[in-house]
Amino acid sequence: TAAPAQTNSAVAATATVITNIASLVTNDPSLGDGTPLGLIQDAALVIEHDRVVWAGENSKAPATDNRVDAAGRAVFPGFVDSHSHLVFAGDRTAEFNARMSGRPYAAGGIRTTVAATRAADEGELEANLVRHLREALRQGTTTFETKSGYGLTTEDEARALRLAARHTDEVTYLGAHIVAPEYADDPAGYVELVTGPMLDACAPHARWIDVFCERGAFDGDQARAILTAGAARGLHPRIHANQLSYGPGVQLAVELDAASADHCTHLTDADVDALAHSATVATLLPGAEFSTRAEWPDARRLLDAGATVALSTDCNSGSSYTSSVPFCIALAVRDMGMTPDEALWSATAGGARALRRTDVGRLAPGSRADLVLLDAPSHVHLAYRPGVPLVSEVWRAGARVA
Ligand code: NIG
Ligand code: FE
Repeated sequence: TAAPAQTNSAVAATATVITNIASLVTNDPSLGDGTPLGLIQDAALVIEHDRVVWAGENSKAPATDNRVDAAGRAVFPGFVDSHSHLVFAGDRTAEFNARMSGRPYAAGGIRTTVAATRAADEGELEANLVRHLREALRQGTTTFETKSGYGLTTEDEARALRLAARHTDEVTYLGAHIVAPEYADDPAGYVELVTGPMLDACAPHARWIDVFCERGAFDGDQARAILTAGAARGLHPRIHANQLSYGPGVQLAVELDAASADHCTHLTDADVDALAHSATVATLLPGAEFSTRAEWPDARRLLDAGATVALSTDCNSGSSYTSSVPFCIALAVRDMGMTPDEALWSATAGGARALRRTDVGRLAPGSRADLVLLDAPSHVHLAYRPGVPLVSEVWRAGARVA
């Protein structure tokens, strides 16, 4: 029972009102200043149970029994990190060191994590997952997607997805991360496994299917076969596309109505055009370019063409070992041509779009009450004050969680 914005009818006395918000990002253009951020200055927000029921000017806030004083802090929707790889064990410090001495990144490094992940017991894997989730939560992430992809056997992939599903609804089957070492001489045999017995074991635990479509991983035809097989089992496609080189991934994503094409670092004009005329979100992962010293994806080009852009961490121990969405926002603003407003939108509403979710990534009546209180007067400070731990409180589903 959502009350209309700007009125105080139908708000129960037992609701919680957050008052004195210096600037509130709703991501509802019908609220506030009419921009995509739906920004309201001097705002208040009312929460009942797990939902937002009212957002508007502080002076018009309804009176309720529970009052939280934001005391001039900014409030925006919790980050929606739509791309991470958090079921892993081990460490790739040596590989990072070698890269920072000039060695290039290659997909082959994934094998190091596969060996460590297979060797880890379930308790160790889950503890590692939870540790990274808590780390992300403290930095404002309230919705996250995570993938398998470091098991590459039927048992190890299913185990990863079962574990992930205990902690999020957004679980992605990535058996096609690289060809498993045992199949190095028989990639076709591995694709048969991924689309056969492994898919049977994994489909019940996942919502999405993903492929690393890249030289050294899977080509366009293999990727199409894998994503199509997944779709036939009710898994919706998303793709690691055009990360290390130009390739067919983005066009395939659009052809299959993938929710998202992720990385998008090397794009032709035709790729940009295809994304702009599709419902496929371009998910940019600047932590990967930072950590692999690669060229930045061109967010400006995608936005100017009309594509929808999401910003996520790609958190994994190899190519992007950061769980920090604020860090990714700062990179996107400094080096990818995004404005602070665009970067905030992409890390919240954009991530929700990439997961085809309408309940998160916004703070309008009816949304899940997932939010960040920032120790600053506006979200712009995320990029303006890079590296500073400004996240002061995190709420998920109406309750303070960090
Ligand atoms: O998104 N690109 C493929 N997969 C990961 C890297 C995984 C790894 O290096 O362990 C990525 O960057
Ligand atoms: Fe990734």
